[in-house]
Amino acid sequence: MTKGGAKFISFEGGEGAGKTTQIKFLGEILRHAGHEVVITREPGGTPDAEAVRDLVLGGEPGRWSAKEEMLLMYTARSQLVRTIIRPALERGAWVLSDRFADSTLVYQGYAGGVDPDEVRKLHDLVLGPFNPDITFIMDIDPNSGMQRVHARAEALNQFEKRKSNFYEMTRNAYLDIAKSEPNRCAVINAAQDATKVSMDIVQVIKDRLGIAL
Ligand code: TMP
Repeated sequence: MTKGGAKFISFEGGEGAGKTTQIKFLGEILRHAGHEVVITREPGGTPDAEAVRDLVLGGEPGRWSAKEEMLLMYTARSQLVRTIIRPALERGAWVLSDRFADSTLVYQGYAGGVDPDEVRKLHDLVLGPFNPDITFIMDIDPNSGMQRVHARAEALNQFEKRKSNFYEMTRNAYLDIAKSEPNRCAVINAAQDATKVSMDIVQVIKDRLGIAL
């Protein structure tokens, strides 16, 4: 799917799993090793997709149906892939994305109530067989994750205001996806301290991609 040294890596997981911090760490390690790195996030990553992010994350749970959320996510994703991710991979860069398609499968599909096969069909319609080379599933007990979220001095988005069983469902769904796609997914224990988490991530990259870092 990707050319030359280009790699597409996504980071997934529940709220407060430390994805953003780990993406920054890995980005620095890769740049130090001489690679071009593009860091992006979903929903978002382009000015238009960031506007969609504000629409879909703002307000209260129930503002959008899960199907409407799915459509908004894929509208934003389509533009991000077309204008940022594919061009970056074509010039040989590494793309690190804070969330990607598994988030829709998990949040709108398994936990949100849209039939997961319908989410997969929409993915095929919009992007075809376009998927990350590696997906890190940052696994943490939802209670610990939500404690980290509440410790941040930021307003909660509508996904962070949901009932605790929603987060249990998202965690289980991520673990099921990792089991069914072991070649693409790597589960990382995100409850460890950030340095150890980073070491585990780098080890997976070395083992799976045979790259010296
Ligand atoms: P985060 O970037 O801080 O993780 O917040 C993004 C939120 O959006 C998070 O709660 C998960 C949610 N989300 C979905 O529900 N579906 C999606 O497809 C994506 C990309 C994110």
